[in-house]
Amino acid sequence: MGRLASLLAAGLFATASARPWSRDEGHNTTATNTTAPTMVNDFADIEPSEELTWVPCFDNPKVSCANLLVPLDYADESAGMTNIAWVKYISVDESAEDIIFNPGGPGQSGLSHVALGAEQLLASFGSQYNLISFEPRGVNNSGPALTCFPGKVEAREAFKQSGSNTVPLQEMYQRSKAHGQYCTRANANTTAKYGGTVAVAQDIMHFVDLRAAEKGTPDSAKLWYYGVSYGTALGQTLAALFPERIGRMVLDGNVYGVQHYTGVLPSDVDDSDAAFHDFFQSCFNAGPEKCTFHGSSTSVEEIENRYLTLLQNLRELPAIHNTDDAPGVITDALVSNQFFSQLYNLVGNAASLAETLAMLEQGLADAAWETYFGPAATGPAPYGSAAAAFDDQEALHLITCIDANKNFPITTYEEYLDVREVFRKESYYAGANSAATNLLLCLGMDITPPPSQQFPGFDPAGTTTSFPILFVNFLRDPITPLSSAQKMSAFFPGSVVLAQNSTGHGMSAAESECTSGWTRAYMAEGTLPPPGTVCQPDVRPFVDTPTKRGVVLPGVYF
Ligand SMILES: *[C@@H]1O[C@H](CO)[C@@H](O)[C@H](O)[C@H]1NC(C)=O
Ligand SMILES: *[C@@H]1O[C@H](CO)[C@@H](O)[C@H](O)[C@H]1NC(C)=O
Ligand SMILES: *[C@@H]1O[C@H](CO)[C@@H](O)[C@H](O)[C@H]1NC(C)=O
Ligand SMILES: *[C@@H]1O[C@H](CO)[C@@H](O)[C@H](O)[C@H]1NC(C)=O
Ligand SMILES: *[C@@H]1O[C@H](CO)[C@@H](O)[C@H](O)[C@H]1NC(C)=O
Repeated sequence: MGRLASLLAAGLFATASARPWSRDEGHNTTATNTTAPTMVNDFADIEPSEELTWVPCFDNPKVSCANLLVPLDYADESAGMTNIAWVKYISVDESAEDIIFNPGGPGQSGLSHVALGAEQLLASFGSQYNLISFEPRGVNNSGPALTCFPGKVEAREAFKQSGSNTVPLQEMYQRSKAHGQYCTRANANTTAKYGGTVAVAQDIMHFVDLRAAEKGTPDSAKLWYYGVSYGTALGQTLAALFPERIGRMVLDGNVYGVQHYTGVLPSDVDDSDAAFHDFFQSCFNAGPEKCTFHGSSTSVEEIENRYLTLLQNLRELPAIHNTDDAPGVITDALVSNQFFSQLYNLVGNAASLAETLAMLEQGLADAAWETYFGPAATGPAPYGSAAAAFDDQEALHLITCIDANKNFPITTYEEYLDVREVFRKESYYAGANSAATNLLLCLGMDITPPPSQQFPGFDPAGTTTSFPILFVNFLRDPITPLSSAQKMSAFFPGSVVLAQNSTGHGMSAAESECTSGWTRAYMAEGTLPPPGTVCQPDVRPFVDTPTKRGVVLPGVYF
């Protein structure tokens, strides 16, 4: 299910077309005016510059782009330079506060959120602010290149072809380890080691400084930041490293940052079972008209048991689909992966998920395939399917493991099995899958960032930020549980956790005027909700469709 499953099965997809500009590649960084300020849609058309040189872009008069040259290592100029793609949306007034946004991944690009979705995103904060985002190191247009197969596309394709996510666990373990060892060797002399999260945090503060100079605001300007999913790990890192620079910080759908820096995250699935159960409960409450998988069930347990029977049957004999696309089978793993991925936005997906399950229960595998799994399927692709393999997988893989670096604890298959048990105890529905995907990512990987980019850890004595952090988390988030928000809040005295009584990942997955009200007040007046506040949503699975705001962030943590 996680991205590794698709990475192993469908392979490492086309890498980001990172363009590691550097001074010695012959770019004349002083000649920024040679590019006329005409509309551009590609960062390749923007001459990199050490200054913020904004160019109109993406056919939106409120949006402009800057291709910023930065040192690979701020503490060692000899390492050379790379470029970072920045994008800004000016709502009303250039001098308004900038909110810097990271959508997650790691490895997600913030470009389209700003170019196409700024108004929706700002609805939770206030339409007066500017929205700024960027492509973190190694992502799409930003350098340095993050790939395990530098200059060897054929090797990557061969690895991709040889994979499958149904092989025995021992084989998956060894395969991941082989990949990690290969990746480490291939990057022995590359600049990939400069791609970790600490470096990205330094890039953000460098940007804040340049932006303050550009706007004529004082030195040590404050950061206003909104991070979702992996973007919360980045935010927690910013707060730990630059506590005196925090103006506002909203962290939404929280990663347990302590575990992020080890590469082993059993906490991720703390609330997964609660998310699955909410589907069964909501289906029962909605009744057979709205939930097609309801059948004639007389209890929630009956619905859940029918689901378990369906999985059991598919495990014993996968269903055949024989559509025009290609023959194939639907396995229990594919169905449970699909189920899990739909929980990221249960309000939006509950009805179609119920329909998929009902079709499979009735033996309508062709219809289920065509509608929900195959190439013609609309909506988010199920995790573990080829269609879900984003081209940011290599960036995700390398960023995760550069961050974990020497802290990743597993070196033998026996150790792996022990940690896998911890995952399985954490979640009945998602533990084993998470252990077969995310947990395998950093095996055999050993890419060490330079000293200035190694994360020193969160201070157990507490780090007081110049403005308190607002943590936001759904009560039933399948991949970043409320407990992670609470555990991270404990590192930052004065911070508050605002919970929302919804199932999904990130507050855009279910609107709540209560939650938006608090986030807007926090931004405008600096008001924090009382600790323990739980907001009720305005939309519920099977009852409402999330059309009011309608933005579903692709930012997911794995
Ligand atoms: C770089 O551009 C500037 C301004 O156009 C020009 O004066 C300078 O000669 C150029 N340098 C090189 C090395 O091309
Ligand atoms: C470069 O362009 C900017 C804006 O178009 C202008 O203000 C500036 O004077 C130009 N600089 C040079 C050296 O031509
Ligand atoms: C990568 O950048 C290009 C512009 O240079 C943009 O059109 C494209 O959407 C970006 N890719 C992603 C995944 O955001
Ligand atoms: C990296 O550099 C060392 C020393 O120059 C060399 O021995 C080694 O073969 C290089 N490794 C790769 C993968 O290029
Ligand atoms: C969450 O909402 C449900 C109804 O959908 C309600 O029964 C439950 O008490 C709420 N829980 C909290 C903590 O607000």
